[in-house]
Amino acid sequence: MINDFGPMPIANSFRKEGDEDSFRYKLTTSFCEFCKLFQINENPKVEQMFHDAYPFFTSTSKSMVSHFSKFFEKFMPSPVGDSFIVEIGSNDGSLLAQAKNMGFRHLGIDPSGNVVERAKSHGINAICAFFSEKLASEIVSDHGKATRIYAANVICHIPDLHDLARGVRELLAPEGLFVFEEPYLGSMLEKISYDQIYDEHIYIFSGLSVQAVFAEYGLQLVDLEKQGTHGGSMRYVIAHESTTTPSKEMLGILKREKEQGLNTTETYLEFANECEKRKSQLRELLIGLTEDGNRIAGYGATSKSTTILNYCHIGNEIIEYFCDTTPEKQGKLTPGSRIPVISREAAQDKLPDYFILFAWNHAEEIMRLESERMPSSVAWINIIPKIEIVSK
Ligand code: TYD
Repeated sequence: MINDFGPMPIANSFRKEGDEDSFRYKLTTSFCEFCKLFQINENPKVEQMFHDAYPFFTSTSKSMVSHFSKFFEKFMPSPVGDSFIVEIGSNDGSLLAQAKNMGFRHLGIDPSGNVVERAKSHGINAICAFFSEKLASEIVSDHGKATRIYAANVICHIPDLHDLARGVRELLAPEGLFVFEEPYLGSMLEKISYDQIYDEHIYIFSGLSVQAVFAEYGLQLVDLEKQGTHGGSMRYVIAHESTTTPSKEMLGILKREKEQGLNTTETYLEFANECEKRKSQLRELLIGLTEDGNRIAGYGATSKSTTILNYCHIGNEIIEYFCDTTPEKQGKLTPGSRIPVISREAAQDKLPDYFILFAWNHAEEIMRLESERMPSSVAWINIIPKIEIVSK
């Protein structure tokens, strides 16, 4: 075992006051020296995480919509008529919207009914299902093989990576590409962003682990591209074995991963020590500020914040409220820590002395927005990549 974050609720289980909130699992991690995977040890049933009330719609983030638009253009197959594009975890269809607009045959797959309905209402072909080898065979019989398979922030949610790899091998056309991107292990270790670890992120991938897992199924990692999204992500490009030459950039990144020690247990044990230090540091800072009579609020009720709040035992006695733009979270309580979530507008009437930036992966967008409307009497507390107070 590497980390022990203690009992954890589901990261996205925002509940109304009075609603039952007793489910907990043990959030611990491990590293496998054989396949180089870093993963959580116990994952709640996927049905508990992805359901008809999944509270995240990709289209609510302007920066993510623009990111997906560039993603689509970069890997767009041709000609349009012969191509078939599949997206695993298609959410509300933000990425497939372009495929639809350009006349590509396409199919989105997502296990959360509410987001699938949203995609369909925009004319996108989508089905509500978990991707599996069995589903891949059915798609091949109905539509043929896929020229492109895309996924963003979803492969790390799938518990059975072997079934996923077999499904991709089945569905992917001989010259096709499987392109996916996920929060990157190298960035997590650099920033000590342990808040990336929660129930939906069963794995935090590296180039080395992705290469090892897919190689078992005749699939080859051929390119890697670092991305700025989600606080540091990596894009992985996979093809059938011996169809494409691996890029120089990929070989360079794999070399750096070894230099960074992503292939040895010691690196992860050091990371776990750092997490413990961050926990003490954050508690000390917040308890000190509260004892001095300051009011503290959270900015962005992210899934990531569930790990920090529950691991560091921070609740409503320290954080008065969270503000968040997601209507599905407003009027509810943060999972486990039970802190009320309100809209940013509602927060304007009761601004705190300190806002903790839990949505640190959107720091630029948020600071641009807030530079106008946040008075200088409110200071920011950054928690990632380091814990610090930033005054305006
Ligand atoms: P997200 O980036 O999806 O992180 P996670 O995967 O950890 O949930 O979530 C960002 C959250 O921050 C989301 O609940 C919306 C909120 N948010 C704001 O409240 N204001 C903003 O300006 C932005 C960009 C996000």
